[in-house]
Amino acid sequence: MSNPVAKIVSKNVRMQFNDVLAIENATCTINEREFVAIIGPSGCGKSTFLYMIAGFEKATDGLITIDGKPIDGPGPNRGIVFQDFVLFPWRTVMENITLGLEIQNVPKDEAKKRAQKWIRLTGLSGFENAYPATLSGGMKQRVAIARALTYDPEIILLDEPFGALDVQTKNYMIKDLQNLWAEANKTIIMVTHSVMEAVLLADRVLIFGARPSSIIANIKIDVPHPRTLSNPNLKEYEHEVTRILSAEVDKSMSLERNVLA
Ligand SMILES: Nc1ncnc2c1ncn2[C@@H]1O[C@H](COP(=O)(O)OP(=O)(O)O)[C@@H](O)[C@H]1O
Ligand SMILES: [Mg+2]
Repeated sequence: MSNPVAKIVSKNVRMQFNDVLAIENATCTINEREFVAIIGPSGCGKSTFLYMIAGFEKATDGLITIDGKPIDGPGPNRGIVFQDFVLFPWRTVMENITLGLEIQNVPKDEAKKRAQKWIRLTGLSGFENAYPATLSGGMKQRVAIARALTYDPEIILLDEPFGALDVQTKNYMIKDLQNLWAEANKTIIMVTHSVMEAVLLADRVLIFGARPSSIIANIKIDVPHPRTLSNPNLKEYEHEVTRILSAEVDKSMSLERNVLA
C-alpha cells in the first residue's frame, strides 16, 4: 500500500460562540480516502467541527487546511449529508439526486447517467420517479447519500446520517452501506453518537472530550471490511471506545449539573 497522503489537517482549532467555548483544541490529520468517525458527548462541538470543514463556520483560532490550502468557505470538493435528509418535496428522487450537478450546469442526460450508478448502489432502483413524501426514512436518507455521491466531491461529510432512523432501519443501512463506502473511494468524515456505527464503518475513530473539547483519543480500527459486530476484535474496539466515551459523557453531565445548581 502507498503511504497515506494528508487530506485535511486541523491545527489547534478553537471555536468560541459568545460566552460558550465549544472547542478548545481540535488537532488532527485525516488522510486521503480515509473513513474517520468523530464521536463525543452531546454538545461537545462535533457538528461545529464538521461545519468548519464544510466552510460554513470559521474557527476563532487555529487553522484547517484541505490539500494544504486554508478553507475559505464551502466548495465543490466537499459534500455534506445532514441528519434530516433535506430533500426537496416537489422534486422526484432523480431530480433531488441530480440537483448538485444541475447547479454546476452539467447537461441533464449526463447528470442522469452519473446518478444512475449511485441510485443502483444505494438500492433506489425503481424509485427514480417517486416523490420524497412516498419514501420511508431509510430511503430518504439513501437519496441524500446518493445525491452527495453523485455530486462526486473528494470529501464527504456526514452529520449523524442515521440519527433520524429507527434502530432496525439504521442497522440494516449501516450493514448495507459498508461496501458502498469502499466503492466510493472518498475521504469521509462521519459524526455520530453511536459507538456501533463508528467501529463498524470507520478506519479510525476520533473521540472528542467534554466541552470545552479537544480530541482526546485517536483509535485505528484494524479490522477488515465488511465487518460484523460479532467479530471479537471489533467487540474489543467497541469496549475501548465506549470506556473512553462514557468517562467524557459523565464529565459533561456533571458539568451541566454544576451549571444548573
Ligand atoms: N451558531 C451557534 N451559536 C452559538 N452557540 C452555538 C452555535 N453552534 C453551536 N453552538 C454551541 O456550541 C456547542 C457545540 O455544539 P455542536 O457542535 O452542535 O455540538 P454536537 O454536534 O457535538 O452535539 C453547544 O454548546 C452549542 O450550543
Ligand atoms: Mg451535532
